[in-house]
Amino acid sequence: MSSITYIRCASQLITVRGGTKEPKRAQDMSDIGIIEHGSVVVENGLITFVGSDVEAERYVHTLNGHINTIDASGKIVTPGLIDAHTHIVFGGSREKELEMRLNGAKYIDILKAGGGILQTTTSTREATEEQLIQETSKRLNRFLQYGVTTVEAKSGYGLTLEDELKQLRAAKKLDERHPIDIVSTFMGAHAVPVEYKENPDEFVRLVIEEMIPRVAEENLAEFCDVFCEEGVFTIQQSEQILEAGKRYGLKPKIHADEIVQFGGAELAAKVGAVSADHLLQVSDEGIKQMAKSGVIAVLLPGTAFFLMEKPANARKMIEAGVPVALSTDRNPGSSPTESLPFIMNLACLTMKMTPAEVLTACTINAAHAIGKADEVGSIEVGKKGDLVLFDAPNYQTLQYNYAVNLVDTVIKKGQVIVE
Ligand code: NIG
Ligand code: FE
Repeated sequence: MSSITYIRCASQLITVRGGTKEPKRAQDMSDIGIIEHGSVVVENGLITFVGSDVEAERYVHTLNGHINTIDASGKIVTPGLIDAHTHIVFGGSREKELEMRLNGAKYIDILKAGGGILQTTTSTREATEEQLIQETSKRLNRFLQYGVTTVEAKSGYGLTLEDELKQLRAAKKLDERHPIDIVSTFMGAHAVPVEYKENPDEFVRLVIEEMIPRVAEENLAEFCDVFCEEGVFTIQQSEQILEAGKRYGLKPKIHADEIVQFGGAELAAKVGAVSADHLLQVSDEGIKQMAKSGVIAVLLPGTAFFLMEKPANARKMIEAGVPVALSTDRNPGSSPTESLPFIMNLACLTMKMTPAEVLTACTINAAHAIGKADEVGSIEVGKKGDLVLFDAPNYQTLQYNYAVNLVDTVIKKGQVIVE
């Protein structure tokens, strides 16, 4: 017997339709496809009807079987939120770094002195796969409470073949066990581990010749990412790693131009990256090339906020025609939060994105940034029944009430997961 969920009469159904083939850019980012008094029907996990309340009543009458009806009146319904950039599989915690930074230490200097990412590498190496699964599932539970139904998860705290595989296997098991869908990215080039400090090229060789082939062979990731930054991986090393990933079917992504202007955005365009992320210091030329090549900018205003830096220039990128997505960057050093709705608030308040643009950025554009736009990211017939009911009468209220959790109900593949 089929399982039917009928979400009826939302004050605004935010479909974000019309962006499945290409991510939304410029003015299209403001077109969020609102249906007033809209309803959705999900059958066996997939959306089968989207439309007005009146049409929905007629449609539902033609169905056989038990119908779980959810009254959404007075609430808005959006696609399940998508977090396109996280580092959630790790051991340990780094609360002491906050105090160090408040006393004037810089994020990158803590890393260069062997702390930061390298500290999390030590604790992740010490953790078993099962411990990583336990710790990460707590983070995933919190994501769900904030309306997030799909996340990307990067490796990059193992930095040995076995420890990178351990992180990616943990993510794969969580994808099977947890309601949230997880898309994995191999990020062996997240930092040069201490044992290769004097010979970083040898570590790059290890990533290219041993890690990438094995990750691909075990089918543990869809993307390959690099921390391309002064003092971490050079443009040349990043290009070699991303090209090697491409040869093994891993689509490129880049941590680009975060701390200094380094040419990461230009490299993203050159290698045909799906996304370039961070971009606080991106050059005008980099923006131009990203727009031309269709590279998605994944902006992380929570990271800028937590590191007390000026955020990326989202307006410039949107006006230049770069498709923009938003993400938490959830990680233990520069962004310890699962609240994607708060990141949306920050995008409005610190980067002047509009309430409509931030919804596009956390739904269909984020889906494109992880290669899943044909499955999720909008409320359209044939997509997964991943939906969020927010206790708000209109979409502007989500950004007006900042840093509060307005999530009322989370539906994953038609099943109510949070209520
Ligand atoms: O995206 N910038 C590099 N990597 C992460 C931070 C990882 C960490 O500090 O543990 C980021 O901000
Ligand atoms: Fe990151």
